[in-house]
Amino acid sequence: MRVLLSSDELSAGIDRLATEVRAVVGGRPLTIVGVLTGSIVLVADLIRRLEGPVQVSMVWASSYRGTATRPGELELRLDLLPDLTGQDVLLVDDIFDTGRTLEALLEELGRRGAASVRSLVLLAKEGRAEVATRPDFVGFDIPDEFVVGYGLDFDGAWRHLPYLGVLGEDEIAATRAAQVAATRAASAAACQDADGRG
Ligand code: IMP
Ligand code: MG
Repeated sequence: MRVLLSSDELSAGIDRLATEVRAVVGGRPLTIVGVLTGSIVLVADLIRRLEGPVQVSMVWASSYRGTATRPGELELRLDLLPDLTGQDVLLVDDIFDTGRTLEALLEELGRRGAASVRSLVLLAKEGRAEVATRPDFVGFDIPDEFVVGYGLDFDGAWRHLPYLGVLGEDEIAATRAAQVAATRAASAAACQDADGRG
C-alpha cells in the first residue's frame, strides 16, 4: 500500500488543527461530536491536544455499503447526543468527500440550540464536493483516491493503520473477490443445511 501521509505528518497536522481550533474558540468549553466510526482515531488524538475543557460525544453516519468506494444512501443515528443547548460544538469527521455527510449532520446539530456549531475534518478530497458547505477546519487536502488507515476503512478493514494509505485497484479487487467467495460459501452451506433437513 502506498503511504500518502505518514504517522509523523498526521501528528503534525493534528497539532496544527488543535492550535487553529483554540485560536477561534479560545478557552471556552468545547463539545466535540465525533462521527463514528471513521473519526475515532482523530478524536482520540485531537482531544489530547485541545488544552482547556472538552466534552466528547458521538453520532453515527454511514454512506458506504460493503466494498463500494463511492457513496450510497446516507444513514444517520443521533440518539447518543447529549443536550447541546448553549454549547460550543465541534463536529469532527475523518474525511470530506462529497460533503453530504457533514452537511446533513450540521443541519441536524443546528436545530439543537447550540451557541455555535463548527466542523473539522482531517482530510478533504479535491474536486469532489457536491454541497456548498465547507468544513471550518481541514487538516489536509488530498487527491481523489480511496484512502484507508488512521480510522478510515474499506469494507471494515484497515482502520488500525497508523498512517494514511492509498488502496490500490488490486487490493480493492482482492477484497471484493474475497467477499464474493465468502457469500457463495455461506449460501452453499445454507443449501446443504436445508437439504439435510428436507
Ligand atoms: P461524504 O458524505 O461523501 O463527504 O463522505 C464522507 C464519508 O465517506 C466519510 O466519513 C467516510 O466514512 C467515507 N469516505 C469518503 N471517502 C473515503 C475514502 O477515501 N476512504 C474511506 N472512507 C471514505
Ligand atoms: Mg465516516
